[in-house]
Amino acid sequence: MPKTILVTGGAGFIGSHTCVDLLQNGYDVIIADNLVNSKRGVLAHIERVAGRTLTFNQVDVTDETALSKIFEAHEIDAVIHFAGLKAVGESVAQPLRYYRNNLNATLTLLACMEKYGVHKLAFSSSATVYAITPSPIAEDAPLGGCTNPYGWTKFMSEQIIADWARCDERRSAVLLRYFNPIGAHESGLLGEDPQGIPNNLFPYVARVAAGQYPHLSVFGDDYNTHDGTGVRDYIHVMDLARGHVCALNYLDTHTGCIPINLGRGEGYSVLDLVHAYESATGKPVPYRIGPRRPGDVDATYADPTRARELLHWTAERDLANMCACGNRWQMQYPNGYEG
Ligand code: NAD
Ligand code: UFG
Repeated sequence: MPKTILVTGGAGFIGSHTCVDLLQNGYDVIIADNLVNSKRGVLAHIERVAGRTLTFNQVDVTDETALSKIFEAHEIDAVIHFAGLKAVGESVAQPLRYYRNNLNATLTLLACMEKYGVHKLAFSSSATVYAITPSPIAEDAPLGGCTNPYGWTKFMSEQIIADWARCDERRSAVLLRYFNPIGAHESGLLGEDPQGIPNNLFPYVARVAAGQYPHLSVFGDDYNTHDGTGVRDYIHVMDLARGHVCALNYLDTHTGCIPINLGRGEGYSVLDLVHAYESATGKPVPYRIGPRRPGDVDATYADPTRARELLHWTAERDLANMCACGNRWQMQYPNGYEG
């Protein structure tokens, strides 16, 4: 019998790529997403790339009645919980919206899992839960000191999930702390589809290279890094997706709750990424140096040892590949998905 995975937030950037990998690995997939930051059009792309169909429910995960109906109707083996709001700046302006959505989504999901006896959970956490600390960052590094409400929702959700897992010995949870996912599916049929002007570096670079914006603003060149610009651990979204499939295997054979970094363990600066994009695509990426963005740090990159040892996972695709794939998506779908 194929296993059935409930994927909350499965219509989003990371969720959609993960659904492809799940379907191609023989899992049945049920998405619960309210489309607050995604479009229905992504579903046909997932099915086309994977060559299989999935089940979609337009549901707000904070709505326990609606979510319960999904658990009632399907024998769910495990849950991957992507659903959440993720814009750092917006979370500073609208803190209550972020706390309500992200914490209630986690609480409601766990309540349903408890009610229907589903014991396995992979949670989308973030490197943002770490306190400012030298890189490479291992999972036992100090946590907290988040600079924005979004980060605190991840920190608090981790705590809630750890407590949920602790009180029943059948439960198993992995807290997947992503570093900086970028790129797109190699087909160019799936990618990141930010609404409005992108906040993050990679989709902005892709649009500059495509001529949609005249130049990139580099947020500061006086950081303590090799060229003065901020250093991050960029990871191909399809490597990240595979990390979730590996996490499901781990959940099958372990109980308890464990945080696991998903990163490459290599840091690249803003200008490294700009030059990599130019080399991979042959397109110029004009840029100007601007002021620092509040809350940014010099450098963050992962120690990915635990993922290698416990999940048997390592990121395989390099920065050139991330840029080439992201550019393919950008050129094929400059306006993103339909509807
Ligand atoms: P995304 O916005 O593309 O996807 C999130 C999805 O969740 C969207 O489709 C949105 O419509 C849905 N959603 C939000 N609130 C919901 C609710 N209450 N009910 C149902 N659906 C809801 O974001 P993403 O980049 O794919 O990120 C996925 C997860 O990974 C998020 O939890 C995010 O915080 C986390 N994360 C992302 C990054 C990153 O850089 N992209 C880094 C670290 C962690
Ligand atoms: N940057 C620019 N110009 C831009 C956008 C970004 O120079 O237009 C720089 C930033 O200053 C930073 C780097 O590019 O040095 C990366 O910035 P991103 O906004 O792409 O990514 P962050 O590392 O700031 O944050 C991302 C997610 C967070 C998540 C974090 C760790 O947005 O949600 O990675 O996983 F918490």
